[in-house]
Amino acid sequence: MHTEKIIILDFGGQYSQLIARRIRECGVYCEILPYDAAMTRIQSADLKGIVLSGGPDSVYADDAPQCSPEVFLCGVPVLGICYGMQLMAHLQGGSVRSAGKSEFAKTSLTLDDTGSALWKDCPVNSIVWMNHNDSVAGLPDGFKVIAHTESCPVASMANVEKKHYAVQFHPEVLHSIYGMQVLKNFVRNICGCSEFWDAEGAADMLIEQIRAQVGSKKVLAALSGGVDSSVASVLVHKAVGDQLTCIFVDHGLLRKNEAEEVLKAYRETLGLHIIPVDASERFLNRLKGVTDPEQKRKIIGEEFIRVFEEEAKKLGGSDFLVQGTIYPDIIESGGTKKSAVIKSHHNVGGLPEKVDFEALIEPLRMFFKDEVRVLGESLGIPHPLVYRQPFPGPGLAVRILGEITAERLRLVRESDAILRDEIAQAGLADSIWQYFTVLPNVRTVGVMGDGRTYDNLIAIRAVTSSDAMTVEAAEIPYHILQKIALRIVNEVKGINRVVYDITPKPPATIEWE
Ligand code: XMP
Repeated sequence: MHTEKIIILDFGGQYSQLIARRIRECGVYCEILPYDAAMTRIQSADLKGIVLSGGPDSVYADDAPQCSPEVFLCGVPVLGICYGMQLMAHLQGGSVRSAGKSEFAKTSLTLDDTGSALWKDCPVNSIVWMNHNDSVAGLPDGFKVIAHTESCPVASMANVEKKHYAVQFHPEVLHSIYGMQVLKNFVRNICGCSEFWDAEGAADMLIEQIRAQVGSKKVLAALSGGVDSSVASVLVHKAVGDQLTCIFVDHGLLRKNEAEEVLKAYRETLGLHIIPVDASERFLNRLKGVTDPEQKRKIIGEEFIRVFEEEAKKLGGSDFLVQGTIYPDIIESGGTKKSAVIKSHHNVGGLPEKVDFEALIEPLRMFFKDEVRVLGESLGIPHPLVYRQPFPGPGLAVRILGEITAERLRLVRESDAILRDEIAQAGLADSIWQYFTVLPNVRTVGVMGDGRTYDNLIAIRAVTSSDAMTVEAAEIPYHILQKIALRIVNEVKGINRVVYDITPKPPATIEWE
């Protein structure tokens, strides 16, 4: 159980989550709160330090985000990063100026105080990642400059007595070569964190918490085969055994053999009590004639909840519902920024509104995806399931353009299975973020044997990414693409042409719908 915590106040910077991940990589537990969180939320017995993140604003703007001034009075060490540094200066009587020109680049940093606790084990000169317009011009009382760059005279400052430190660059970005060392120095040397926290070690604590919350009551989960809901369910199962019932709704839009594989792994290997529901006919019927992408998503989301509710009622009710909510979901829903809706990512397996539960069990609400995977493997979930590529809730429905029929599902499923087989054989599975086939609504002329064909076109989509926000088309070797194309055309009756989608995101998205 952890008794030490760092709080990161999020000023809307694009790297705020990354700061949290890096601090956790240092083995220290941390959480992100909105920049204007009340002191009562920030301060607790286990608080060891506060980090102020970067952000897009200028401290002098009318609506510039500000944290409570008490952050600087509460006695724990504070680290300001980029905007966080400027705010630290501004709120304590220093001054900030527009740098004249923006600086977005790797820059050489020179230390002015090599003995500073922030620079322990860092060389006098190193490369850092700068990403800013404004910078600190006048130091607040009690501060001194501890590093500079050619264009930024105050690239880092410190008030040693109060343990307030700040850097203009981004230590959380790997381009800053000693960035991890800087974060480690802050949390270990300056804040004095001495525990070692990791996701694997958190399992026992989570299981204990679930046991205490549930007591002898009943718990229900919607298992989809997705990593988050699976790891959450396995944790609950370890805590309360067969008090947990999982409902596995097969909407008929899964990949080839997927339903069987998921059921086998969770039932036989992990011993979960699962009620499988084959609702494929029902979903296909509801999707008959539907071609609009958003409508497909809506129907599938609604129908999923309906099937789940019916099954839950048959069980005579449960007290708790397990949700695979993870930390980015929490941060984004309480975040400081708003973004446009590109696609309604219906969380299939989401919360049924009409079923009454005493409470939700969300054991992963403080974990990042990679931590969920570490936890999943340590709980004994087979590697292929834990490292399964992301798969959209509406499944193959968003990979079939136009109407979804049993025949068109067959074309996508079979071609996708060939693609997956070849990618695995080529040893590329771990280096490609997602790879799948798409059935556009296009038929083309071909020649097979001596005869004319007028059959379907299939597209291959394969992308590299680290977060699905931006992606590049994967550079699959040409001879492997050729082999995949030939196998698909030869083995899947009804397909006579294969194309490769080379568009990055943006401007395209990963899924075609
Ligand atoms: P796009 O297509 O928006 O996809 O670039 C980004 C990531 O989200 C997945 N995705 C979904 N996941 N429900 C989900 O749970 C959805 O409706 C959905 N649509 C897209 C997609 O596979 C990719 O990983």
